[in-house]
Amino acid sequence: MPKKIRLGILGGGGDSLIGVLHRVASFINDNYEIVGAVFNPNYEDNVNFAKEIDVPTNRIYKDFDALVEEELKLPEDERIQVCSILTPNFLHFPMAKKLLENGFHVICEKPMTTTYEEAKILQDLLAKSGKVFAVTHTYTGYPMVRQMREMIKAGALGKIHKVDARYYQGWINAIIHDKEKRSSVWRLDPKKAGISSCMGDIGVHAFNMIEFTTGLQIKSLLCDFNYMYDDNVMDVDGTVLIRMDKNVKGVIRASQVATGEENGLAIAIYGEKGAFRWEQEKPNFLYKMSDTEPVQIYKPGHAYNSELSLDGTKLPPGHPEGIFDAMANIYLGAARAIRGEKYNDGEFPTMLDGVRGLNFIESTVASHKQGNVWVDME
Ligand SMILES: NC(=O)c1ccc[n+]([C@@H]2O[C@H](COP(=O)([O-])OP(=O)(O)OC[C@H]3O[C@@H](n4cnc5c(N)ncnc54)[C@H](O)[C@@H]3O)[C@@H](O)[C@H]2O)c1
Repeated sequence: MPKKIRLGILGGGGDSLIGVLHRVASFINDNYEIVGAVFNPNYEDNVNFAKEIDVPTNRIYKDFDALVEEELKLPEDERIQVCSILTPNFLHFPMAKKLLENGFHVICEKPMTTTYEEAKILQDLLAKSGKVFAVTHTYTGYPMVRQMREMIKAGALGKIHKVDARYYQGWINAIIHDKEKRSSVWRLDPKKAGISSCMGDIGVHAFNMIEFTTGLQIKSLLCDFNYMYDDNVMDVDGTVLIRMDKNVKGVIRASQVATGEENGLAIAIYGEKGAFRWEQEKPNFLYKMSDTEPVQIYKPGHAYNSELSLDGTKLPPGHPEGIFDAMANIYLGAARAIRGEKYNDGEFPTMLDGVRGLNFIESTVASHKQGNVWVDME
């Protein structure tokens, strides 16, 4: 068994949504050990949380700059090897930049940065650094999403006709209708979230799922946002028409005001020979449809699945695995890359996914602001 990879965590404190997902995911395949962190901007909260989860407090730092400075003083075989960036969006870029400049691998939450320009700066830096950079588009880690990708790659659908991805949530209803509340959450503050709320937070996952599963790129798009109130500058709902390679067309629908919806990410890919449909809230069922035959349901862990899909299951069929396992699969792929072991290019979303994501977010905003016009992606 190789030694565990020394992991640092930035953000993801006890008050956060995503911290527990990363901590558990890093633990699941026994590849990582959390050795240092800045879980919170407040040092006392930071140390208290480290004590609560039993992370030694000698490498809990007052802020991110101190973490890099102090870690660099340690011998290389003790130093943090990879840092997970789990803070609000505006901190991703300065943190990732400094980490790459100082020889650390990076696992970064999405959206990777708040601007396309920043994303391209990181891309250049990464190319020079030779380090590993994973962007945690969590849903690509699900075995049935991987299966869909591999079957589409092998030609199961023939020529693709139409793609439809939607990501519907309703949580912002409790905030958006109250003037005070809507000016107090970071996801509606452009200084912290970037130029988009809904498309930047969840539409970008739907975008990534389409490019991940089809292997095709979106070439141009037309977007219509809803901001709900005049004093709110951040989209909370959006519909995007897309044109892809090979004359494939489709739609991305994203909403944070879809009343009653929880985490309704769903994707459907329709082709000449058949279609796939998958829903995040029922992740262990992949539907293969056809005009002439009964619906087939693919499930994880069976020998009929692809190598990439099977690599993402740990238990025999019928033992449901979920979001923690999907994120764990991304951490597993990143661990292989960090150790210089062989890995499949579908095992974790990369810098390219991060850059494409920012290109998408900026294009949707440009399309809406220019009067709902078609905009080319680079
Ligand atoms: N992959 C996914 O499916 C997914 C899901 C949810 C959130 N996210 C992403 O994860 C990131 C965090 O989202 P969240 O919902 O957990 O946010 P959150 O507001 O719940 O938590 C943010 C955490 O960062 C900490 N933090 C803030 N400033 C910091 C600083 N300067 N130094 C260290 N820690 C700091 C906060 O104390 C808190 O613990 C966002 O970029 C978001 O887009 C991704």
